[in-house]
Amino acid sequence: MLFVRQLEAADGYGNRGYLRAANIPRAFSLVVLFAVMSTAAPLVRAQKVPLAIDSSRPGAKIDRNLFGQFAEHLGHGIYDGIWVGPDSTIPNTRGIRNDVVAALKAIKVPNVRWPGGCFADEYHWRKGIGPQRAVTLNPNWGGVIEPNTFGTHEFMDFLEQIGAEAYISVNIGSGTPQEASEWLEYLTTAQATTLAKERAVNGHPAPYKVGYLGMGNESWDCGGNMTPEYYLDQMKIYSRYVRNFNSEQQPEKQKGQRMLKIAVGPGGGEARWTEWTEAIMKAYQQHTWSWEMDGLSLHSYTVVKWPPAYQSVGFGETEYAQILKSTLEMDGLIARHSAIMDKYDPQQKVALVVDEWGAWYAPLPGSNPGFLVQQNSQRDAILAALNLNIFARHADRVRMANLAQMINVLQAMALTDKEKMVLTPTYYVFKLYVPFQDSTFLPVTFDAGLYTHGDVALPRVDAIAAKDKDGKVWLAITNVDPNRPAEVEVSLAGVSAKSATGQTLTAPKVDSVNTFEAPNTVVPKAISAKSEGGKLTLHVEPKSVTVVSIGI
Ligand code: AHR
Repeated sequence: MLFVRQLEAADGYGNRGYLRAANIPRAFSLVVLFAVMSTAAPLVRAQKVPLAIDSSRPGAKIDRNLFGQFAEHLGHGIYDGIWVGPDSTIPNTRGIRNDVVAALKAIKVPNVRWPGGCFADEYHWRKGIGPQRAVTLNPNWGGVIEPNTFGTHEFMDFLEQIGAEAYISVNIGSGTPQEASEWLEYLTTAQATTLAKERAVNGHPAPYKVGYLGMGNESWDCGGNMTPEYYLDQMKIYSRYVRNFNSEQQPEKQKGQRMLKIAVGPGGGEARWTEWTEAIMKAYQQHTWSWEMDGLSLHSYTVVKWPPAYQSVGFGETEYAQILKSTLEMDGLIARHSAIMDKYDPQQKVALVVDEWGAWYAPLPGSNPGFLVQQNSQRDAILAALNLNIFARHADRVRMANLAQMINVLQAMALTDKEKMVLTPTYYVFKLYVPFQDSTFLPVTFDAGLYTHGDVALPRVDAIAAKDKDGKVWLAITNVDPNRPAEVEVSLAGVSAKSATGQTLTAPKVDSVNTFEAPNTVVPKAISAKSEGGKLTLHVEPKSVTVVSIGI
């Protein structure tokens, strides 16, 4: 049996076991050779994948914030998706849907980015507090009415209900530093200021915690079309004056609890974006006590054509392979920007925050094109797992990520229609990956093999491993090949792996989806294996995502 050898990652992170896109042509010729030599082999014969986990060389922490979510005032992302109002017949707690809260609690959402997106740079927080809410417009997203019934208190209540931290993006585009600084004072001070008293009158005497502050959104585009120099001038002012007053979040009190400030970063890999990253990081290297940043945001959607033309339903293997090829570009993008960051921040103090990622397809027929409504298929489950694996392999620099967007918009966790809710295949991947939150990365080497379709050649199998706080070893395996199962022979350096227990997510077809009528088409099922003759072999289905704990 001829395998494509895994190549040592050249990114300096010490992560092994990933077949890079650049290596594909050489690997491809090996596989062609293999195909010629074994024409008699049945197509569905399982690919054997020797896989070794090395727990003696632990890597970076896989921050739970890599599993963050993004919720913008866009389409039915907030209204109907989260907020139905306290008078709704849909079961709710203070206006927030109970079904959505229960689903999100189960995947331990670490943080939610809000209120946008492009919406954030037109959001004026005072319109969303108090008994009388201003009715405004949402010009970015369909030009619809924004009732402002979901505002600061409702967002913080929602976070408390799901157990997540706040990642608030303040308005740099059309707001002022004063407006943003007053918002943070309103949210976080315990002292009896006029703003704190107003917060108490509005129902919350205790100060809130705000974990993360986004200083603008895509300021190079919808956030004000700024040059890096102009953005830097603005951002430094916001960084200086938008303060968190919560006594539990002061640097001297509790290290790690401090509010982290995230600057606008790149939106791609071209020269324009590398220049942006250079400019911001160069400024950071020379920063003084009067301003700071803890993160640089990166936005990257999987979209093959613009405007998005690929369908989220009713597609075939060609679109499956092309979308997955495109999504794997995330690895190179992160590597490119990380290299620039390393130049100016070798100690990796600034995190790369991928706070908008996911698949962006054509809007579903009949939907408002400004609402970015799409279905979510098994392809998206595979796509999600591949990206989470990429983030984990770059976990020393990538310490936060936010899928776009949480409910009803783009690559959502759940879709709602009045009282109905359905969980998507992507949701189940996030559920399978819960054990990886705050775990420690473990290097894994494996023979990925190659999946080819038309002119697309991809690593057939992908995998990451990690050790959780209790010392348990977890393994995630993605079988990208939609036609061929894989037999993964798991070994753990220095110890014998005796068993594997967990769950696997596969589907009848690459475009299988969950619907309100058939919500259980794509749901995880149990998987386990026991070692036989000293070998632990896990049989994984085609187009599947599997997460198991390894028993020793
Ligand atoms: O997620 C939809 C939009 O995509 C966001 O509002 C914006 O930041 C990005 O361009």
